[in-house]
Amino acid sequence: MPKQEVLLHINGEPRMVVIRTADTLLDVLRRELGLTGAKPGCNNGDCGACTVLIDQHPYKACIMLVIEALGHEVTTVEGLQNTPIQRAFADCYAFQCGYCTPGFIMNAQALLLHHEVISEYTIQEWLESNICRCTSYEEIGDAVKLAARLRDTLASATGRTTDTDG
Ligand code: FES
Ligand code: FES
Repeated sequence: MPKQEVLLHINGEPRMVVIRTADTLLDVLRRELGLTGAKPGCNNGDCGACTVLIDQHPYKACIMLVIEALGHEVTTVEGLQNTPIQRAFADCYAFQCGYCTPGFIMNAQALLLHHEVISEYTIQEWLESNICRCTSYEEIGDAVKLAARLRDTLASATGRTTDTDG
C-alpha cells in the first residue's frame, strides 16, 4: 500500500508523519509518534481505551482513519499534563491497573469542556462509552466531580468560563 507524508496537529504541535491511507489514528499515534497513552483494547469501538479528542470532542482512535484527523487538532492524554482532570484521577485513586485510565481521562476532559454543571447522571451517561474491568466506577465519578471543582476554581481565578456547546 502506498505511503505518504502528512501533517498532523497533535497536542498543540505540528507533526510530520508517514502514513498509509488505511492506518487508524490509534496505530499512527502509537507506532509512528510514540504517543502510547491511547490504548488498544477491543479495537472495535466498544471499550473507550483509545479515546482521544478531535477538536475537543471525544473519538475512538481505533475506528478512525488517520486521514480523517488531517486539518483537526488531536489531543491525547500526553497533552493533558498538569490539568485538573489528570490531578483528580490521581488524587481519587481512580484506577487500578490503569489500562483504561487514559481513555476515561480523555472522555472526562471532554465532559468538563462541554458541561458547566455536572450531575451524577451526566457523569454516568457520558462515561458509558468507556469500560473499566478492575476499579470502581465510584472513584472515577469522584475524580470527575473533583476535576469539575478544580476547573471552576481555576476559571474563577482566571476569569474564564466553560465552553458549553454540548
Ligand atoms: S480500543 Fe478503541 S474502543 Fe476499544
Ligand atoms: S483500571 Fe484496570 S481496566 Fe480500568
